[in-house]
Amino acid sequence: MAQTFETVGVVGLGTMGAGIAEVFARAGVQVIGVEADDAALDRGRGHLDRSTGRAVTKGKLTEDDRSEILGRITLTTSREDLADADLVIEAIPEIMEFKRGLFADLDRICKPSAVLATNTSSLSVTAIAASTSRPGRVIGMHFFNPAPVMKLVEVVHTVVTDDGLADDIAALARRLGKTPITAGDRAGFVVNRLLLGYLNHACALLESGLAGRDDIDAAMKLGVGLPMGPFTLLDLIGLDTSYEVCEVLFRETRDRRHAPAPVLRELVTAGLLGRKTGRGFYSDAEGAPAAEGDRRAASVSTVGIVGAGPEAAALVAALDGAGFKAVVAENSDLAPVADADVIVALSDRPIVELAVRIPHPDRLAGLHLVGDDVAEVASTVLTSEETAGAVRDLVKILGRTPVMCGDRAEFVVNALLYAYLNDAVRMLESGYASAGDIDTGMRLGCGYPAGPLEMLDAIGLETVRDGLRALYAEYREPSFAPVPLLDQLVTAGVPSIREYAG
Ligand SMILES: NC(=O)c1ccc[n+]([C@@H]2O[C@H](COP(=O)([O-])OP(=O)(O)OC[C@H]3O[C@@H](n4cnc5c(N)ncnc54)[C@H](O)[C@@H]3O)[C@@H](O)[C@H]2O)c1
Repeated sequence: MAQTFETVGVVGLGTMGAGIAEVFARAGVQVIGVEADDAALDRGRGHLDRSTGRAVTKGKLTEDDRSEILGRITLTTSREDLADADLVIEAIPEIMEFKRGLFADLDRICKPSAVLATNTSSLSVTAIAASTSRPGRVIGMHFFNPAPVMKLVEVVHTVVTDDGLADDIAALARRLGKTPITAGDRAGFVVNRLLLGYLNHACALLESGLAGRDDIDAAMKLGVGLPMGPFTLLDLIGLDTSYEVCEVLFRETRDRRHAPAPVLRELVTAGLLGRKTGRGFYSDAEGAPAAEGDRRAASVSTVGIVGAGPEAAALVAALDGAGFKAVVAENSDLAPVADADVIVALSDRPIVELAVRIPHPDRLAGLHLVGDDVAEVASTVLTSEETAGAVRDLVKILGRTPVMCGDRAEFVVNALLYAYLNDAVRMLESGYASAGDIDTGMRLGCGYPAGPLEMLDAIGLETVRDGLRALYAEYREPSFAPVPLLDQLVTAGVPSIREYAG
């Protein structure tokens, strides 16, 4: 029979624990909150008072509701008070020795049927479980910050978790108004594993000089529709936390993709941790970027376009409308554009091969339109600064945000996106989270407009597979090689990975 949880202990009432205690109390569960000492207990009480007070001010709770909720929470500094709890969830600092010590104690104190849960973000649930005599009753219950607001809970089972327990904890999460996803005990679970791989990749691209901070942020925010770019998000998460999670991922996977980018180490060592210290990739002191005039490209009268099809036709029409003379050539014969003031090659692949076939290679830049709002402007080693600047201005005149980058496989957006999608396929292939849970995790955990497997289906499996092949051929990075499952689905002509995964 499914286990029910009427009395729940929460150990550690800091950022997460106080929020978790509130979530349980709001759902009508009796909560015993435990802190290390009286001063910390007072701070925990302060968190609870402020959070529920804000909800009253915003009209989301009445004063009566608030008193009822707070009335369900008993605060104590004695772990022994947890003897009768049905479930204890721990939210103390992310240090394995602390967690193992606590779990050994909880194992002694709590009744044999009690479930012991950890809110760890990155430590091994299996190693924590092994510090008890009831590893089958130990589970991960990973809430997101702020716990009262964020809908997602990752339920993490180990190889020795009792059958049915993950389902019971998932049912409990639903009772709390949350959406649970279930994952095996791998570093980073679903969300942090996929997110930090992508964020670290953005750092590596920055370090390689492919594109600048603002360009990469704009590319992912406006080009993919993510809530914010990777460097803004890294600053928000904290560069120390991000570094640590990458380290934990790397220790498990030994995948270079997870090895923290040197720029992260440097910033952390310098004490530039992001928002919490006022400076990380961005600085609070930084003003808004100076507005640039949009009409520098007025010095350009003839624009050569290398390309064909509707994209080229639309570009010609837009340039005509903006008062430029547009001439078009196809790859096979570049003569018509040879003398244009600037030449843009519409391409989702590097364009240096074209540059070496024209008399003025300094006038050529690649142009890759991304969605409706962004255009990547790729400079080869031969493109002049004047050309890059003129194409950037043209892009702005056309109403798109330019992303300036080097002439490398998949430029910025697809390089970051496809590698992330490949990671999601790898996760699915390894069988430790379902397609639905992977998508739900990224939508609710990161506020992404769609999950990675949904994105993969929308872009097309073959397009992504081919993009990954191009990335691998260029960078020779093993994690860019298409995961065998993706390759096989394309070969077999399966159009949707989500349908395949059921
Ligand atoms: N902050 C986040 O965004 C976030 C998100 C998800 C998960 N987590 C995880 O949640 C856990 C807690 O993180 P946090 O950000 O809330 O930390 P925090 O530092 O804000 O809170 C930790 C609390 O634990 C208390 N504590 C320390 N030792 C204790 C003990 N022996 N007994 C009782 N209380 C003790 C501290 O007094 C403090 O109030 C970590 O495992 C972290 O990885 C954090």
